[in-house]
Amino acid sequence: MENFNFCIGVDILFGKDQVENLPSTIAPYGKKVLFCYGGGSIRKIGLYDKIKSLLSDFEVYELSGIEPNPKVDSVREGVKICREYEIEALLAVGGGSVLDCSKAIAAAAYYDGDPWDMIALRRPIKKALPIVTVLTLAATGSEADSGAVISNPITNEKLSLGAPALMPKVSIMDPTYTFTVPANQTAAGCADIMSHLMEQYFVPESTYMGDLLVEAVMKTIIKYAPIAIKEPDNYEARAQIMWASSIGDNATLCCGNKLAVFGVHGMEHELSAHYDLTHGVGLAILTPNWMRYVLEKAPDVVRPRFAHFAKAVWEIEGTDETALAARAVASVRDFFKSLGIPMTLTEVGIDDSKFNEMAEHAIHSEGLEYAWIPLNRNDIVSILKNSL
Ligand code: NZQ
Ligand code: ZN
Repeated sequence: MENFNFCIGVDILFGKDQVENLPSTIAPYGKKVLFCYGGGSIRKIGLYDKIKSLLSDFEVYELSGIEPNPKVDSVREGVKICREYEIEALLAVGGGSVLDCSKAIAAAAYYDGDPWDMIALRRPIKKALPIVTVLTLAATGSEADSGAVISNPITNEKLSLGAPALMPKVSIMDPTYTFTVPANQTAAGCADIMSHLMEQYFVPESTYMGDLLVEAVMKTIIKYAPIAIKEPDNYEARAQIMWASSIGDNATLCCGNKLAVFGVHGMEHELSAHYDLTHGVGLAILTPNWMRYVLEKAPDVVRPRFAHFAKAVWEIEGTDETALAARAVASVRDFFKSLGIPMTLTEVGIDDSKFNEMAEHAIHSEGLEYAWIPLNRNDIVSILKNSL
């Protein structure tokens, strides 16, 4: 078991009507609040009006229109408002994109230069404005982690940033807000959660307890994703998925594991950077193809692990490791397909014209040579081609 430091400094208020606590959770940070949100879903569910009325004693400024795969221009706009009105706290209401954009704003407000330089040059982030979140889509875990991912459509880059200062101070998680998440986004969100779990399960070394914890959360997604898609207002399903998203990506489950770079995420960020693809859809397409590829590339390492995964998570019986490993790959593909996710890059309008460029960039910016099964440029191009 590896050494680790564990401190998740976010207060989580989980469950129905927890938003009523919003004024008292923001008050310690100040009166001047920048309220960040996306393209309008929070108005449709009545959350916009609710928040405005709850914050009637605060000085509230707004940054709206934050897009999926949030763009650096929204970060720049937010920083401008923070400086002009001396904002004291950020309130991010939405999915991972709104939360990530708010985190980048919170850090860039203290950065003396363009926010993209802060991100691309990986400037150390020591200070950030306090962030409170109200989550409306379960997927990324951004509500309980200290990372963010921002896109620059001019350079076709999607880069991550992270620092303890970016951990939200408080995250309000009411599963009823996710009742309106459409089936395709619910499916993509669940694929993202599964991918986070898989990326910390297929690692150089894991612990007995870590494996059991990750397996339990995977099985939770396998059970509840189809229910949430069929019955969008099933509270139990939405609640289980929402909590799975938070603990699935913030180190709670993998303390003591010897981790490696998130390889499939590294490849997917290239797809969404170039094609503005929904993150979870890209992951669902790439994951089974990555599995098949690494199983062939490093069978001695991968086969036993995939066989264990087949038995522990997919409840497949048998003793033949080769057959079990193949069933594991098929199970992952079938599961994502059953959620209605398009399973080829061709279906989502992506061809091979940028594969070399993407592979080159992934190697440099995402460090894929440090993945569980190290991937070089040719490996990445092959996996992308197999995904067409
Ligand atoms: O913009 P609005 O109108 O709010 O609509 C959003 C958006 O169109 C909609 N939506 C959100 N809540 C809704 C809803 N629609 C109906 N009812 C609701 N309650 O859903 C669409 C997608 O939202 P988005 O925030 O983009 O989705 P998600 O939460 O999947 O976030 C994806 C982004 O997070 C990054 C991804 O790369 C991507 O940029 N990630 C962030 C991570 C992190 N911070 O730790 C880790 C992840 O691996 C990931 O990379
Ligand atoms: Zn992800």
